[in-house]
Amino acid sequence: MPKILVTGGTGYIGSHTVVELINKGYDVVIIDNLFNSTINVLEGIKKITGTKPEFHKFNLSNIIFTNNFFKDNKGIDAIIHFAAFKAVGESVNNPLKYYGNNIMSLNNIMAGMKDYNISNLVFSSSCTVYGQPEEKHLPVTETAPLQKANSPYGNTKQIAEDIIGDVLNAENNLKCIALRYFNPIGAHESAEIGELPIGTPSNLVPFITQTAIGLRDELSIFGKDYNTPDGTAIRDYINVVDLAKAHVIAIERLVNNKNKKSLELFNLGTGKGVSVLEAVKSFEKVSGVNLNYKLVERRPGDIEKVWADTKFANNELGWKAEKTLDETMLSAWKWEQKLRN
Ligand code: UD1
Repeated sequence: MPKILVTGGTGYIGSHTVVELINKGYDVVIIDNLFNSTINVLEGIKKITGTKPEFHKFNLSNIIFTNNFFKDNKGIDAIIHFAAFKAVGESVNNPLKYYGNNIMSLNNIMAGMKDYNISNLVFSSSCTVYGQPEEKHLPVTETAPLQKANSPYGNTKQIAEDIIGDVLNAENNLKCIALRYFNPIGAHESAEIGELPIGTPSNLVPFITQTAIGLRDELSIFGKDYNTPDGTAIRDYINVVDLAKAHVIAIERLVNNKNKKSLELFNLGTGKGVSVLEAVKSFEKVSGVNLNYKLVERRPGDIEKVWADTKFANNELGWKAEKTLDETMLSAWKWEQKLRN
């Protein structure tokens, strides 16, 4: 079976993807510097799959470490590049941290692909590249216009897509599928792996589950006067295992040369917009917990509403998000409960 390098493989989406790859028989090698994850994730992966993947701990923004890795580890067929910082607010306060890490690591990985003849890359991008789409572009398709990023984090995703495009133009044998994620939530149904926020979570679902378990006093719902049916912001929340499965399909497509262009872009979402209040209600229903929340001012930098047009991914990849919001919320709650035990 092909050998897949997963950077950021102990992270949230990375670990779920490693599980799906191993389940399909792929040989997996992980690189992660554990800046935003822990080594115990490998045990969770082993409990689910029976396999503990090979692991290398170093910083991919260091060209020497990265080059040495490729020199010593031949036979890699494809790379899934997750490793990146992702906190929107932090990126505004510390842009150099984001440009330095997210851009340099991609640069070093692509240099490795070129020098060591690794043709296939799956890149972790984001719906943030669309900004707030105009009403006529909702649900948002892959051809919707991109807008200037409203955070350095978002800008690193736009720049990364450009870098990949430029390199692919110059290198005939390289190809890439960039996956633009909407809002990944939930955890593996076994509750052996899930999202592990360090410090106070900035994302909605970990904040909900931490409030429900008593770690936080109250959830603040940011914005009650958006132009949406209940006044709260709308996102497309996608189950992380559904998302992980799309990566396996992308890998199969590249490795078997089924891609139609050297750079293909896909939106990964459910196609359904869900408001913050609807997400909270779903959580309350499946957990049986009455969540303590209050409606407060909008969060600076937030957009009002975005959800995916999933037709292209559905038709071309033969992939579809399957889990319901309720199932996904329940998986997040089971994971939170397991973490605190
Ligand atoms: C953003 C980015 C996404 C990025 C992600 C990484 C956009 C459109 N999306 O997602 O690309 O990958 O950050 O972290 O730029 N909320 C509350 N209370 C909370 C937390 C969140 O009400 O305590 C609300 C937010 O205002 C938002 C929704 O919940 O309306 C989702 O927020 P969050 O989980 O932080 O994700 P995004 O900001 O959509």
